[in-house]
This record gives sequence, structure tokens and C-alpha cells, in this order.
Amino acid sequence: MLDLSPETLDRLVEAASEIRERAHAPYSNFTVGAAAVDAEGRIHVGCNVENASYGLSVCAERHAVAAVVSAGGRAIEGLAVVTDTSPPSSPCGACRQVLIEFGDFPVILANLEGERTLTSVSELLPDAFTPESLVKGQE
Ligand code: THU
Repeated sequence: MLDLSPETLDRLVEAASEIRERAHAPYSNFTVGAAAVDAEGRIHVGCNVENASYGLSVCAERHAVAAVVSAGGRAIEGLAVVTDTSPPSSPCGACRQVLIEFGDFPVILANLEGERTLTSVSELLPDAFTPESLVKGQE
């Protein structure tokens, strides 16, 4: 499952670190970058974008997923999340649900000091409600 090459891991972490610098987080000052690799090896990025109406803020992970889909990608092979925290931060519950929509894939949590934690969507969200759950309900 956790079978991304070291090169892809590095590319993902670098892309997430770069996009993190574009985050719009004037309210929390907590900036997050995310990068996803699709089945074609293309990397798509997202950062958190906050709003004066706080509840409208959108996480970096969900913007990265939207970028994959907007570029025509359907499968996600891996995702990196970069924060300036130690240990590296983990995706929020809402983002975990959005990630599992695209399957179980490796997730790398990283920070600016080079710390990395390798996990997966199914580890982050066990017993998830997935597209397959809907199919079962229709049988
Ligand atoms: N945030 C993310 O971008 N991803 C997460 O998984 C957790 C939280 C953002 C949302 C908000 O802009 C800031 O971090 C503080 O919660």
C-alpha cells in the first residue's frame, strides 16, 4: 500500500511546501500545503484559503483534491501535507472523508524541519463511509 517511490515522496513534499507559502490564512496564521499525485504521475497542489466568515475556510487537502479532478485526474496515488508544526499535522476529519472518496493511498505528513510521518487514508479514517457503502445500500 505504502509503495510510493522515494522520488515521488520527495516531489510531493516539495510541491506541498511550496504551495503552503501561498496559503491565505490571515485569521489562524496556520498555513497548510498539500500535493497529490494522480495515476499519470502529475502533481496537483492546494493550500488553505480562509475567509472573514470563518466557517467558509477551505483546507489545503480539499483544494488539492479539487485540483486533481479539475485537471481530469480521477485516481489519487498519494498525497503530502506540509505544516510548520512538530510533529507534522494530520488532516482534519472533513478532509479525511474527502480523501477516502478517491480510495486508499499513502499520505505523507511533513514539516519544514524534514520530519515525515507515512500513513494512509484507511489508517486515518478506519471504517469509513465510502462510495461502496452507497452501492451496498442499493442492492
Ligand atoms: N487546515 C487545513 O488546511 N487542513 C487541515 O487538515 C486542518 C486545518 C487549515 C484550515 C484553517 O485555514 C487552518 O488550517 C486552521 O485550522
